[in-house]
Order: sequence, then C-alpha cells, then structure tokens
Amino acid sequence: TKPIIIDCDPGHDDAIAILLALANPQHLEVKAITTVGGNQVLDKITDNALKLLSFIDADIPVAKGAAGPLLGQLVTGEEAHGDSGMDGPDLPPSRFKPVEKHAIELMADIIRSSDKKITLVPIGPLTNIALLLRAFPDVAANIEEISLMGGGIGYGNVTSTAEFNIYVDPEAARIVYESGIPITMSGLDVTDKAPIFQDEIKALKERGEVSHMVGELLDFYSIYSRKLGYEGSSLHDPCAIGWLLRPDLFTGQCYHVEIETSGRATRGMTVADRRKVTEGVNNVRVLTDVNRDAFMELIFDALDFHDRN
Ligand code: BDR
Ligand code: CA
Repeated sequence: TKPIIIDCDPGHDDAIAILLALANPQHLEVKAITTVGGNQVLDKITDNALKLLSFIDADIPVAKGAAGPLLGQLVTGEEAHGDSGMDGPDLPPSRFKPVEKHAIELMADIIRSSDKKITLVPIGPLTNIALLLRAFPDVAANIEEISLMGGGIGYGNVTSTAEFNIYVDPEAARIVYESGIPITMSGLDVTDKAPIFQDEIKALKERGEVSHMVGELLDFYSIYSRKLGYEGSSLHDPCAIGWLLRPDLFTGQCYHVEIETSGRATRGMTVADRRKVTEGVNNVRVLTDVNRDAFMELIFDALDFHDRN
C-alpha cells in the first residue's frame, strides 16, 4: 500500500476524493487529512472534514493548516460550495476533533518517521505544501510524489486562465511546482473529462446511506455546474486519487510547467511549455484524459464499500 496524506478544503469534490481513498485500503493508506483555507474559511472546511469522517466512522488524524494564502486575502469558492463549504446533506455534528498540531507539523512528523516514502495529495490551494517545504526542507527527500488537483493547461475556471486552487495561492503553487518533487497534475484538462451526470446522481440516491449522502452533495454541486453551462459536474479532486489507484485509466504528457504569479490577466495560470524544446526539465506529468465510465465505476464501487461498512 501507498501511504498518503490528503491536504484539502472540503468541498464537495474533496469529500468524494476522501471517500474514494478510504474505500481502497489495499492500495492506499491515508495517514492524515490536513486542511487549508480554500472553498470556505478554515474552520468551516475543517469541520466538514471531521463530520465526513464521523459519518463513515473513520478515525484518522485531521490537522488544521493555513487559513489563507501566503500573500493577500483568501478568495473562497462559496458560489460553488455554499455557505458551509459543503452544502447539501445535513450531516450530524462531528465526534472527532482536530489534533493539536499544525498541519505542516503533522505532515513533517509523518513523513520523517515513515519507512516508505509518502505521497502527498493536495486538492485545495497549495499553501500548506509550500509552507511545509519551506519550513522543513529535509522532508522533500522522503516524499514519493505529489498528486495534485489544480491548474489547467488550456484554460481556467476562476478566470479565463486560472483554476481555483492555483488562483487562490499562486505564490505557494510556484514554490511547489519548483520544488523538484515529481508532480502529477490533475488539472481541468482531465477533470472536466470526468463529469458525473444527473441520472448517475439520481442512481446514487437510491443506494445506501453514504451513496445517498454523496447524491445530496452532488445535487447542490451540480446547480453551479449547470449555471456555468456544463451538462455534468466535474469530479475534480477525485481524479488526484484516481490516478494513484488506477493510472491505467488516465492519459498524460510530461511538460515543463511554470506558475504565473504576476500577469495581469494570467495570475495563477499554469503555463506549460508544449514546444518540446524547453530548457528546463519536465517537472510535471499533466493528465489530459480519463476513461470516464471506468472512473465512475471506481467511484460507485467506493461508495458501495462505505455503504457496506
Ligand atoms: C477545485 O476548486 C475547488 O472548488 C474544488 O474543490 C477543486 O479542488 C476545482 O477547480
Ligand atoms: Ca478542493
């Protein structure tokens, strides 16, 4: 099994990513869940993570990280994720509490003490990961890979060029992309090829308790997708877990990718050099396509697993 740490801001699709990871204990061992200000303010999204884990009875360490980006003010994703950050189902209060450590301390402790290299799965803004690498540079040597959701080499979703997770903290993203740690990027290029459709959401609500709860999450989440003119709702964050579970379902290409931090119309853009004459080494594997139907089956199976357990 691969030991992983999920750094997140739940977040509808974050919640599904967490459920997907926890449903595959033979492949992934979730060592901790750390939270970062993003889709909503830190307290709200941390509470969402704890409520979700309580709901499925998974006692995994949760640590709070950065409340906002390295520079400037937090931009939230309230329009897509609602006032709670995870609107839709009425989840009971959490039985768990966050650990008394900052996210980057918990991450560093886990990485340093692990026999196997740790894979990081950031599915929110990259603030915590940048802070970790700056505060504790020694940990980089024991990180296997970073499988992240963020960016897009063709387009953005917050602006025409920038995707939310990178847009919220471009300075942090730049530190991570320049870290030299192998990165697999599930950006909009691939995640928009993983939409869940209305009939599938309806089917979820006719299954067990966890599937039903996810159906309610997706009912809310799909309102915003429809507003943007999409037929389905992109399951962004689950792609970063899906890649670790079933790389065979994905197509990708390695590029040198830089983060634009100062552009007037392009701040937060992931700029990929597609010329193949790039001077720097390719630092990122950019996922570009996924077998949607097989990926959806993976999600449905994961939710079945939780319904049974
Ligand atoms: C990303 O932004 C957030 O709203 C989602 O949770 C996902 O991580 C998609 O752009
Ligand atoms: Ca997210």
